[in-house]
Amino acid sequence: MKSFAIVLGNITTVKADAIVNAANTTLLGGGGVDGAIHRAAGPQLLEECRTLHGCATGEAKITKGYRLPAKYVIHTPGPVWQGGNRHEPDLLRNSYVNSLKLADSYGCRTVAFPSISTGVYHFPLEQAAPIAVQAIRGFLDHSNHVEKVMMVCFDDETRRAYEKANEG
Ligand code: APR
Repeated sequence: MKSFAIVLGNITTVKADAIVNAANTTLLGGGGVDGAIHRAAGPQLLEECRTLHGCATGEAKITKGYRLPAKYVIHTPGPVWQGGNRHEPDLLRNSYVNSLKLADSYGCRTVAFPSISTGVYHFPLEQAAPIAVQAIRGFLDHSNHVEKVMMVCFDDETRRAYEKANEG
């Protein structure tokens, strides 16, 4: 039974087969959820990330989870918001879809996302949420292994925006 759930929480504590990291294109860590995931995973995560030589915006790369409860971390740089006329919506959709394709190809049954690009990258939350929800629900319709996707929201404003987008 396929399912999409929106929860309030800290993604570093989520025991999913894969958690997704809102990374930057260097894949060498940062602040926000990227910093939290690297702190929780431990230094071996950065060691493995160094071997990946970065990642283009909207693409996704996978590593082990190390000290995290999750088996894998899927790193995807979302787009920086630049006003909305630089293909930001398509690039954000790509981040979700490419992360899910990678999770599916690794046989993951459960995947947890943070709200990609809506923090430091300033993608407006009310525009990002519908893009994410449509990408996730669309992928679940034809996924092979992925059965459960969670959107793990770090605050109530974010959770409300995803709940609203999911009602449509
Ligand atoms: N669990 C879940 N969500 C979290 C957590 C956490 N532990 N910490 C932060 N968040 C949320 C933020 O509140 C926001 O809703 O993740 C969402 C994405 O925010 P950012 O982490 O700032 O990511 P993003 O906007 O994609 O910017 C990426 O920030 O940290 C750097 O290296 C990163 O350069 C990259 C940029």
